[in-house]
Amino acid sequence: NELARNEDLATLIRTIPDYPTAGILFRDVSTLLLDGRGFRAAIDRMIATIDPVDIDLIAGIEARGFIVASAMSYALAKGKIMLRKPGKLPGNVVGMDYALEYGTDRLEMHVGAVSPGQKVLIVDDLIATGGTAQAGVALLRGQGALVLQARFLVDLPDLGGGDRLRAQGIETDALCS
Ligand code: PRP
Ligand code: ADE
Repeated sequence: NELARNEDLATLIRTIPDYPTAGILFRDVSTLLLDGRGFRAAIDRMIATIDPVDIDLIAGIEARGFIVASAMSYALAKGKIMLRKPGKLPGNVVGMDYALEYGTDRLEMHVGAVSPGQKVLIVDDLIATGGTAQAGVALLRGQGALVLQARFLVDLPDLGGGDRLRAQGIETDALCS
C-alpha cells in the first residue's frame, strides 16, 4: 500500500529515549530504512522539493546522511561530496570542529572536491541544533561553494537548527519533525 502522507512516513521513524545520553529523544531512522517502500517514498518526496538545475553537487554527512544523500544523488544523477568524520579521507583535507545535540565532533572534506561557484545541496538524515550542518556549510563555503539549499528527513525545530541555516541564506526543508 502506498504511504499517503509525510505523517505516515514519520511513524516509520522510532524514538528511543535516553540514547546516547540521558534526556535525548533519539530519532532512529533504522526502522524507516527497513521499509523499502517507505524509504523510496521518503526519497521521492525529498527529490520532489528540488529543481535539479539549482544544484551541481550533493554533500552528504557521515554516516546516516550518506544513505539519504546517496539515494538522492542517484535519483538526480548528481555527483556527491563526502563530509566525513576525522581521519577517513585519504587526500588533502580541510576540517572543522563542531558541537551537536549530544557532544562534539569534527567534519572533514577533500580540498578540490568542489570548484568555486558550484551550487551544493547539503543532505543529512536529521537536523537538531544544526551544528553538524553548519560545519559542513562552513567547509563548503570555505572552498568557494554556493550552499543554497539543505534537505533532511527529520527536523527537530525546537533545537533551532533549521532556522540557523535559514539565517545563513540556506533554503531548508525536512519531511517531518
Ligand atoms: C546525527 C545526525 C546529524 C547530527 C544532527 O549524526 O545524523 O548528522 O547528528 O545533530 P545537530 O543538528 O545537533 O548537529 P551523528 O553525529 O550522531 O552521527 P552518525 O550519522 O554517524 O550516527
Ligand atoms: N542527532 C542529533 N540529535 C538527534 C536526535 N535527537 N535523534 C537522532 N539523531 C540526532
